[in-house]
Amino acid sequence: MFKRVLTATVASLFAFNVVSAQDQQACNGYSEFCSKSYSDLTYVLTHNSYAYSASPAANQQCDIKAQMTDGVRALRLSAVKSENDTDLHLCHTSCSILDAGKAQDTLSNIAGWLKENPNEVLTIMWNVPNNDMYAKDFQASYEASGILEYAHVQSPQNLTWPTLQEMISSGKRLVNFVDINADQNTVPWLHSEFDYVFETPYDNQNETSFQCTIDRPETPPANVDQMMYGMNHFLYGQLPWGGNTIQIPQSGSANVTNGEGSLLKQANDCNQAFGSRPNFLIVDFYNRGNTLEIAAQLNNVTFDSSKQLECDKVNPNSSGDNTNSAATSLFITTPALSLMLVGLAMTFM
Ligand SMILES: *[C@@H]1O[C@H](CO)[C@@H](O)[C@H](O)[C@H]1NC(C)=O
Ligand SMILES: *[C@@H]1O[C@H](CO)[C@@H](O)[C@H](O)[C@H]1NC(C)=O
Ligand SMILES: *[C@@H]1O[C@H](CO)[C@@H](O)[C@H](O)[C@H]1NC(C)=O
Ligand SMILES: *[C@@H]1O[C@H](CO)[C@@H](O)[C@H](O)[C@H]1NC(C)=O
Ligand SMILES: *[C@@H]1O[C@H](CO)[C@@H](O)[C@H](O)[C@H]1NC(C)=O
Ligand SMILES: *[C@@H]1O[C@H](CO)[C@@H](O)[C@H](O)[C@H]1NC(C)=O
Repeated sequence: MFKRVLTATVASLFAFNVVSAQDQQACNGYSEFCSKSYSDLTYVLTHNSYAYSASPAANQQCDIKAQMTDGVRALRLSAVKSENDTDLHLCHTSCSILDAGKAQDTLSNIAGWLKENPNEVLTIMWNVPNNDMYAKDFQASYEASGILEYAHVQSPQNLTWPTLQEMISSGKRLVNFVDINADQNTVPWLHSEFDYVFETPYDNQNETSFQCTIDRPETPPANVDQMMYGMNHFLYGQLPWGGNTIQIPQSGSANVTNGEGSLLKQANDCNQAFGSRPNFLIVDFYNRGNTLEIAAQLNNVTFDSSKQLECDKVNPNSSGDNTNSAATSLFITTPALSLMLVGLAMTFM
């Protein structure tokens, strides 16, 4: 009798612990997300996540760690072959123009963050601007950085994604895509982006340019309504240079572009056009405007906007700097920067 009471007490204590652990459990910050499919949610995706150096060519204002601390859950990285190094680098078209270093180092930082944050699901979208890197070229950097153990594998043609809870429980909570040269027979974890995701046009110069049409893949796939999609919502300023035009990210107007009248408006327009909310809000200067609030709103949860963003802490003057006119004058006065901006003009994206 006594023993049975004791057993029941121990059992209920145990049950209590289990329940309270579940109560605290959140997936990407919200318990509501645990039962959602990976493909049912909207994520803020930073365009050229690695390009945060103090230059008019930068697309972001703080490093990837601050981005992830703030709630960015998708990163776009460019894989470029460095002339002096066989390792994969994060560069803007050419490593002589903007080199953010070895991909392995950034991946290693991201792996460290994933380890410290066991309930988070993250996406990396690669682009290969020079069409000179292949799926197998990613393997060594992924292995050496320790990030490969987190890589989820989704079979080709399978558009039914696991829930966040399933991904967290399996430990496979990093989804990797590449825009070209995927080969899932030999590198199964590096998914061919446009088999799973389509994108709206990325070459936008003003607030009226944003459209809810399929830009990539070139041939619209048959199963569009089951695919995820990325909504490109950033502006490039046009600067005439000889016969060419130079494209500059627009930090000065990012508070408007990333605000409700623009970013949320296009998300709602695209929801109408495609019958689902965008999965990836692809933005520059995510810390300006309301990108994280808007993603939360699209996910039917509330973002706590009372906390100062990490991005603004590490870069206290980020909200007012780097306007297009500043970029223009820098462009004219600094030869090294001119080279960089010419490089940007050649950049695919
Ligand atoms: C490669 O090395 C040469 C010689 O050290 C140097 O001049 C050049 O800038 C390097 N290139 C890159 C992309 O780092
Ligand atoms: C597709 O992926 C989901 C989630 O990983 C899995 O449950 C399902 O069995 C897969 N379907 C096929 C046909 O492989
Ligand atoms: C906005 O950009 C589009 C091209 O995307 C162009 O046709 C249009 O003239 C531009 N409008 C203004 C006001 O600059
Ligand atoms: C955007 O920033 C500019 C200049 O800093 C400011 O004048 C404007 O009111 C801001 N707009 C919004 C929507 O926050
Ligand atoms: C949010 O609510 C809308 C409208 O009820 C629904 O269509 C959508 O699936 C919900 N999104 C999520 C992520 O729960
Ligand atoms: C921020 O701006 C203020 C006022 O313009 C300036 O005094 C300060 O040095 C700036 N801080 C940084 C980190 O650039």
